[in-house]
Amino acid sequence: MARVLVVYFSKEGQTEHISHHMARRLEDAGHIVRLINLKTDASEAGADDYDASILAGSIHRGSYAPEISSFLMRHGPAVRSHVSAFVTVSLSAASHDATEISALNEIANRFLFEAGWQPDFTEHVAGAVHDDQLNAFEKVVLHQIVQQHGEQLDPSGHTEFTDWRKLNTFLDAFAARL
Ligand SMILES: Cc1cc2nc3c(=O)[nH]c(=O)nc-3n(C[C@H](O)[C@H](O)[C@H](O)COP(=O)(O)O)c2cc1C
Repeated sequence: MARVLVVYFSKEGQTEHISHHMARRLEDAGHIVRLINLKTDASEAGADDYDASILAGSIHRGSYAPEISSFLMRHGPAVRSHVSAFVTVSLSAASHDATEISALNEIANRFLFEAGWQPDFTEHVAGAVHDDQLNAFEKVVLHQIVQQHGEQLDPSGHTEFTDWRKLNTFLDAFAARL
């Protein structure tokens, strides 16, 4: 039984959804999990008292929220001292285009290099398009991207690309290291 910290920053809600799923699955595997939302509970976040941590963030306009970097600036030594994973959520992760995937890897690698963090796992997770969380311009742009990927938009206004089975495979590999 390990103590695991799951820290996330989510703009439109999908990384939050993913982080809650990760916490539940690790708890079901017998671990003690603390879930921290950097949008609301940044001051409570600390990584010293844990055996492992997962940091999850989504990509917007080619970068991650500054709150993720701030967390690593404050708690990098603790995160680097134990088993850690970076869960990076984006629409590009749903793409089959080699150029887009390579650009995605570059964004994540640049972020990790700048943060001076070499996580044991870097997991790319496909996100979602939640229309009710977007302004009119963002909605048009994201709908175009989805169509370019050859995917359908869900009439409900919530189009999810997250591959939960793939995420579970990652979580089981992560749990096996604890
Ligand atoms: C304004 C905006 C910009 C985005 N920029 C990118 C991007 O540069 N690359 C990408 O792969 N996905 C991009 N996305 C897609 C998000 O990463 C995706 O919707 C993700 O699920 C958002 O996670 P969140 O709901 O936790 O904020 C963008 C989404 C929005 C709304």
